[in-house]
Amino acid sequence: MRRYNQGARHQVKLTLNGRVCEGQCEPRTLLTDFLRQELGATGVHVGCEHGICGACTVRINGVAQRACLTLAVSAEGQDVQTVEGLSDGDGALSDLQVAFRHHHALQCGFCTPGILMSAEDFLSRVPEPTELAVREMLSGHLCRCTGYTNIVTAILDVATRRRLDKSDV
Ligand code: FES
Ligand code: FES
Repeated sequence: MRRYNQGARHQVKLTLNGRVCEGQCEPRTLLTDFLRQELGATGVHVGCEHGICGACTVRINGVAQRACLTLAVSAEGQDVQTVEGLSDGDGALSDLQVAFRHHHALQCGFCTPGILMSAEDFLSRVPEPTELAVREMLSGHLCRCTGYTNIVTAILDVATRRRLDKSDV
């Protein structure tokens, strides 16, 4: 097991949005700060910093997790995806991002990256969700812009489109 000295800076190497990246941090550094300040992934937003609001949600090995509750050193060797990794290499938005724009689900945008990452994880596990299931998933995101309705609509729309795309094959 790797040992970390408090106060010392350690090299952390991980895959970020398909690219191997590395940087340095202290053992106490949160993954939010490491991703934003060391690796430049500023799409990871920081709200409450104690696991309540969901703004910092990223996917680690495909699973949505609070980056503010994750130590950066524990992400060593892991596959991390942030909102920057949703669009393709040309910068074209993903179908989920397009649906958020189409259905006016963005609001002020502060919570959007975290919600998108949770929604992608959710849709990968629940391809045919009910509205209630989408709302339950969204209950992990506290948003001051009020309306969750358009977000629910966008996620359900993408779920339907993905199923239709699959059935075309
Ligand atoms: S900043 Fe991580 S849950 Fe709020
Ligand atoms: S999108 Fe504005 S506070 Fe959540």
